[in-house]
Amino acid sequence: MARALVTGGAGFIGSHLVDGLIARGIDVRILDLLTPPVHDGRVPDYVPADAEFVRGDVRDPECMRQALRDVRYVFHMAAYQDYLPDFSTFFTTNAASTALLYELIVSERRNVELVVVASSQAVYGEGRHRCGSDGDFYPGPRSEEQLEQGEWNHTCPRCGGRLEALWTGEAVMNPHNPYGLSKRDQDEIAVKLGARYKIPSVSFRYSIVQGPRQSFRNAYSGALRNFTVQLGSGVQPLIYEDGEQQRDYVGIRDVARATLLPLDRAAMHGGSFNVGGDRSVSVLELAELVARVVGVGCEPRVTGLYRVGDTRHIRSDVSRLKAQGWLPEESLGDVVRGYVAWALAHPDFHNAAAGAQERMKELGVLRAAATVDSSRA
Ligand SMILES: NC(=O)c1ccc[n+]([C@@H]2O[C@H](COP(=O)([O-])OP(=O)(O)OC[C@H]3O[C@@H](n4cnc5c(N)ncnc54)[C@H](O)[C@@H]3O)[C@@H](O)[C@H]2O)c1
Repeated sequence: MARALVTGGAGFIGSHLVDGLIARGIDVRILDLLTPPVHDGRVPDYVPADAEFVRGDVRDPECMRQALRDVRYVFHMAAYQDYLPDFSTFFTTNAASTALLYELIVSERRNVELVVVASSQAVYGEGRHRCGSDGDFYPGPRSEEQLEQGEWNHTCPRCGGRLEALWTGEAVMNPHNPYGLSKRDQDEIAVKLGARYKIPSVSFRYSIVQGPRQSFRNAYSGALRNFTVQLGSGVQPLIYEDGEQQRDYVGIRDVARATLLPLDRAAMHGGSFNVGGDRSVSVLELAELVARVVGVGCEPRVTGLYRVGDTRHIRSDVSRLKAQGWLPEESLGDVVRGYVAWALAHPDFHNAAAGAQERMKELGVLRAAATVDSSRA
């Protein structure tokens, strides 16, 4: 029987892939380090008993060598993702592990028929923008001076006018934070080494993925989990910047369906594909939706705090994936209801956001603009 290796298979996206692979009759081996704060050291209950679980590190050649035994498909989902300043960990966990994967497949002549890597919308940085008079740009990060003044929007580098954020396709990667840089490297390693050594490879650039099993212990990022843990604990949601940031959140079932598509569609091999929700919503709108689902009032704390390295607006154009027959099917309401129901029923449910916010302030990742209303932060 065919076997798949899912690295990070005890995590949020990986675990849904594990279920999908088993449902197709594929044997699954999980390689996962159970890293905190996502995990508490135990294998989560949702990991199926009929998946082989190996606790190990994707950075460790011997672990990876063992994990690749008799494997036909690899889904490389393990990653380090956060807003903390331990820069090298992003590259060793996300990029070097991917190079190691190809190194082992090539040097040991493994018969791997498909490698899928989890890339990210973060490879686009601020994404594509348009100025009415000066055309299209892929702006760099906003300046510290601008953010300190609470001036959140991008302006045209030529005329200084306001830029409109467009839907961003796969053509140009322009990352500017360590996570995005490491994901760009991972993406290119997979697609280019895959082509060079004839190992069918696909990278998926996920937008913000949401749904059950998204660990609420890791509250450094993830608007839905942050709003859910706060509102579910009687705390009003803390909003970064002014809450007008546009995002294209996508549901986990749609993401799992997309990620398994290359098993059946050789036409996708060698490609990179955006996986997003194909709809745009502001952070404030998301907070209001979460409050409605939790069943509480919503008075978001919009204080002028901002995360260094954050993106103003980003939405991924999913036309390339749609051309492969995929369409997002989950409405944002379905996604939020599914996550809130799962999180509130979880025995470990607690407001993990407060500690994460304090830690980010200590590390200088979360900062206050001059316009900050600290009484509400
Ligand atoms: N969730 C999102 O919104 C999103 C968006 C874009 C891209 N991605 C990418 O999708 C993938 C899965 O993300 P997720 O949300 O499921 O994250 P997650 O944190 O829930 O899962 C990641 C898993 O990787 C494991 N892991 C971390 N470091 C490891 C290591 N060195 N060795 C072995 N295992 C290790 C963790 O224990 C965890 O179980 C990641 O590559 C991530 O960068 C996620």
